[in-house]
Amino acid sequence: MNLEAIDKDLIWHPFTPLTGYPEPLLIESAKGVYLHTKDGRKIIDAISSWWVNIHGHSNEFIANAIHEQAKKLEHVIFAGFTHEPAIRLAKNVQSILPGDMSKIFFSDDGSTAVEVALKMALQFWYNRGVNKKKIIAIRGGYHGDTFGAMAVGERGMFTDPFRSHLFDVAYIDFPLADIESKVLKEFKDLVETEEIAAFIFEPLVQGAAGMRMYSPLILDSLIKEAKHHNVICIADEVFTGFGRTGRTFACEYLSETPDIIAVSKGITGGTMALGVTACSKKIVAAFESADLTKTFFHGHSYTANPIACAAANVSYDLLMKEECRLQMTMINRLHETFRTRIQAHANVKEVRCLGTILAIELRSGDETSYANDLRKKIYPFFLERDILLRPLGNVIYILPPYVIQEAELNRIYSAIEEFLGTLK
Ligand SMILES: Cc1ncc(COP(=O)(O)O)c(C=O)c1O
Repeated sequence: MNLEAIDKDLIWHPFTPLTGYPEPLLIESAKGVYLHTKDGRKIIDAISSWWVNIHGHSNEFIANAIHEQAKKLEHVIFAGFTHEPAIRLAKNVQSILPGDMSKIFFSDDGSTAVEVALKMALQFWYNRGVNKKKIIAIRGGYHGDTFGAMAVGERGMFTDPFRSHLFDVAYIDFPLADIESKVLKEFKDLVETEEIAAFIFEPLVQGAAGMRMYSPLILDSLIKEAKHHNVICIADEVFTGFGRTGRTFACEYLSETPDIIAVSKGITGGTMALGVTACSKKIVAAFESADLTKTFFHGHSYTANPIACAAANVSYDLLMKEECRLQMTMINRLHETFRTRIQAHANVKEVRCLGTILAIELRSGDETSYANDLRKKIYPFFLERDILLRPLGNVIYILPPYVIQEAELNRIYSAIEEFLGTLK
């Protein structure tokens, strides 16, 4: 069977034009930070396969848990039934989430975790009989590809075909250091209308926007202002959660706490699709009723899939280990050293680093954006050197599984320096 030919003929890949693009690489297996191709190449997964993989590929502890769970209870309807892997996971996640998260709602991925968060916030006001419907979001945000998640994200190339179907959102500017007070004023004016239902944000880092980072102090001020006007604060920690920013959750850098938190990606160590939306007592209180009209009518066939929950429980155990913390610290130390080495390079506009994330924004003569043409040079350059770095336009970022070793990081840094040398 010619697998590549069938793929080319039959499969529609995500975020990929159907013509004019290189064929996808066929991966036969993966171990640790390496992806193994059919023809024997070993490619370093320097972006953790779309930011999900935290403990390395084919981790044997997670694999065993999946195997055991699949033999015992693969799935059961989650309305009217429950099971131990979900209960244990709810406890585990609650024990590490910031704030007073008192209910855990399961879904399928990051987008659905965000949809749930938005629907919870809107229904909170509906159940209370209060006419607050508007949502505030930050320009440049990305929250997923379902309709609600698209609506609160940046409008542009990704969302243009659906624009007329997306609900109205009030945007504030990205709070760069030099415009923080302007953004805070903009935000105050919006929340003072008392029409705002919720404020959604990616805490400290806008991932898809090019790993754009902002200060915890300004986010604290925004949340404080929001809470003062009874606006529900939703932290989208889908990308930042489970150690990515150097703390278990990015919200740990804040003094304020959100009312709702959406997580996914790293939750299962990158093995199974799973989303979680957690909310505080205040949110839950608006739903505590036997009245069907106040019920949260949302659910997915695979809600709280036991195999995904079992994988997540082992991923949690691994994340809590000292060894994992030390690895995260080592990655950050090497990232910072590399940042110092390259930030004055003529082709480097800015280097941003937080925890295990390192982003290098390149000068290109063009605007920084996902569609920036430099992408076409960057991706093949690194792939030819057996390194998977999938840039966001002219932003190269490294976001490795936490098990990566110093020598492997050094190989990636050297390749980046070599690439910088190729630019005019
Ligand atoms: C901050 C954020 N929210 C939500 C999502 C959507 O997650 P998923 O791709 O699992 O639907 C992403 C995906 O990159 C994300 O970065």
